[in-house]
Amino acid sequence: MSELTDDTLHALVGKLDLAQKVRLLTGADIWSTPEEPAIGLRSMTLSDGPSGVRGPVWDERDPSLNLPSATALAATWDLEMARAYGATSAAEARRKGVDIVLGPTINLQRSPLGGRHFEAFSEDPLLTGQLAAAYVRAVQEHGIAATPKHYVANDFETDRYTADVEVGDRALRELYLAPFEAAVRAGAWLVMSAYNAVRGVTMTENRLLTAPLRTEWKFDGVVVSDWTAVRSTVASANADQDLVMPGPEGPWGEELVAAVRAGTVQEAAVDAKVARLLRLAARVGALDMTDRDAPVAADGVGRSRVSHTPDTGLRVAREVAAAGMVLVRNEGELPWPSAGPGTIAVIGEAGSWPRTQGGGSATVVPDEVIGPVQGLRTALPDATIVAHPGVPVQTGIHPLPLTVMTDPYTGEPGLRARFLDGDGAELLSEHRGAGQLVYLGTVPKGAVTLELTTEYLAGPDDPETVLLGVAGIGATRMEIDGAPALDTVLTGSGEALGAALFTPGVATVPVSTDVAHVVRVRQQLEAGAAMPGLVAITLGTAGGTANPAKSIAEAVALARASDVAVVVVGTGSRTESEGFDRTTLALPGAQDELVRAVAAANPRTVVVVNSGGPVLLPWRDDVAAVLLAWFGGQQLGHALADVLLGHREPGGRLPTTWPAAESDVPVLSTTPVRGVLRYDEGIHIGYRAWLKAGARPAYPFGHGLGYTSWALTDLVVADPTVNGSVDIEVTVHNTGARAGKQVVQVYLSRAESDVDRPVRWLAGFTPVEVEAGRSVRIRIPLSPRTFAHWDENWHIEPGVFTVHVGTSSTDLPLSADTAALAAV
Ligand code: BGC
Repeated sequence: MSELTDDTLHALVGKLDLAQKVRLLTGADIWSTPEEPAIGLRSMTLSDGPSGVRGPVWDERDPSLNLPSATALAATWDLEMARAYGATSAAEARRKGVDIVLGPTINLQRSPLGGRHFEAFSEDPLLTGQLAAAYVRAVQEHGIAATPKHYVANDFETDRYTADVEVGDRALRELYLAPFEAAVRAGAWLVMSAYNAVRGVTMTENRLLTAPLRTEWKFDGVVVSDWTAVRSTVASANADQDLVMPGPEGPWGEELVAAVRAGTVQEAAVDAKVARLLRLAARVGALDMTDRDAPVAADGVGRSRVSHTPDTGLRVAREVAAAGMVLVRNEGELPWPSAGPGTIAVIGEAGSWPRTQGGGSATVVPDEVIGPVQGLRTALPDATIVAHPGVPVQTGIHPLPLTVMTDPYTGEPGLRARFLDGDGAELLSEHRGAGQLVYLGTVPKGAVTLELTTEYLAGPDDPETVLLGVAGIGATRMEIDGAPALDTVLTGSGEALGAALFTPGVATVPVSTDVAHVVRVRQQLEAGAAMPGLVAITLGTAGGTANPAKSIAEAVALARASDVAVVVVGTGSRTESEGFDRTTLALPGAQDELVRAVAAANPRTVVVVNSGGPVLLPWRDDVAAVLLAWFGGQQLGHALADVLLGHREPGGRLPTTWPAAESDVPVLSTTPVRGVLRYDEGIHIGYRAWLKAGARPAYPFGHGLGYTSWALTDLVVADPTVNGSVDIEVTVHNTGARAGKQVVQVYLSRAESDVDRPVRWLAGFTPVEVEAGRSVRIRIPLSPRTFAHWDENWHIEPGVFTVHVGTSSTDLPLSADTAALAAV
């Protein structure tokens, strides 16, 4: 990484004329920035992120590591895990030729209905900020840029392009801006401006891009827009918005050149944006300085060649998944002995088809996903493990697996995709090895039809008849064995821009599975053009053929005949995704009935929850154990086996409150009213709101069980240090018979105050691993900021704060007062 001085940057900018400069400020295409050979600038590639790196193509032929989603990482409460995760993302970026990772997502989980909840870390700003800082540092140490997003208050998806968030200064500073402040102070090279407005001004034009971002936090990097978020020329160019994505079309270009000539935008503003872009280019190694003066201030470290192998990535994925699993109930069932139970029934669609990541732009295409059934079978080769699909979860269709498809052109597993022009002439014909295809910027010019052809032969476990179908957008026909089977127009729901991806239309027809069928689908492309260049199509089967009562009866019989029943419940792609918010916290379909029936048949029922965010678990007190496995990434099944068999602690603690009932949730609505979403609860979100309301959730923030027992003793609160932080020390005893991990959490409260305050708030935490029967003394520094509140500036109210130490927001056995703090 090279740091350029202001003088060098100035000199470089001075070599370009206005048109050259403006050209650099809009993407060259969907995922890259323009090159400028005149100054040795190459194009830079940006890519989602944040839980793996997709690369410029969304394609199974160039697979990506699928890391666990952010909620799983956050549940580790472990900055070392965040570092490993960031370093792995950098290695993936390097492997895929990506310079800039579009993550982490550090909006807050204000409501559990938030569609991108799985992609954000936590409802708490301190936990989010610390994880974000560790992730950003780790990515950038390897010469890859990180992009904390979406600045700011994009904590919901409903009307996300236009909604205006009405939020007070104090909540903005103490909650929503705080993680961005931490990420920027950790040195982030970019920040992504959000789609929404805050206090009446859309974020790509908002003053918040200047203050506090540039003025107080000294951000010297690039503000990249969320994709299509810049809608104006003058207002956005006069704001501290630097880079418009995607391109090459966009509202800047010639209009911005004209605005500068007309004097409505100062050329100096354009120069400043270009200078920041070049500073970024130098940092990621995209500026060839060999013909120029050597950079004046190099950090001396150089760009480290990340030495991760694919195995390292898989190992990190598995470790994070296990370390983030949260055991919320365990009536002596877990861990199993390492030989495992003799017979295990694994019940539920997600047993074989787990969701390992949330929907939307965060999605990557892994080469292989290990589900719970496969993970358990690998770990316990001698056990009898019988899978049952339970009841349907997924609405829409599951992509056809490779095992049931043959490309008729080559005889290889997969299908043939052909793009045709208006005369039916072939523009591109390619073999594909997946039932779900996404083309983003890779559709051949002039294509009006996409044709998929495959020979479909159902698997031995499939029912006699399946519902075979297509998901996508546009006029669609399907032929089976040459005969017309479907002729329909598929329309998406939800937001127009990404509907093909997030909420496509679906149509299915019943098909017998006794013989092979040649299936041909033709879809017209024009209708999907809302997001230029986006085509997403799925060929698959719907799970909905089964009669739930019959399936439940079968699952019950299987559970009864097994030593242990593992029921894997979860959400579908129409439940948790970018592009829309959730409408309910209940599990989809008849999963609650399924769990109740299985638990009644086998007292050794372990429920594994495969969701990105909170779901309601109304039967939670009637089962032997409940383990939250999140969207655990492509190694989910292996990590699950590690945890069930006690090879790994279920290391997670809740980064967000899990409610017992939707009506109990203090801050729930994500729906703007007349275009405005009011954050009227101020600083009271998440556990702060639960504590204020005196309401009891199913599982509180910070909660999670392990496989051993603990005691905390000897809390000492030191006097403030010279830099104003207050160190606390406590002894952590592992009082059980197994080594284990605990997350020690420190909260502050204030008995008497002139300021509206949370009942208590998280001020520090640290994970600790302790051998059986041993104790460790730990120190946790509480930064001055954790004592401060915002009132036009940061202030510390003079006097005494109370420190509470324990293992969740509601289990805090130790407390002690600080010395009286002086006003700041
Ligand atoms: C999302 C961003 C993402 C971008 C590019 C947007 O719709 O909000 O998070 O980085 O698309 O895919």
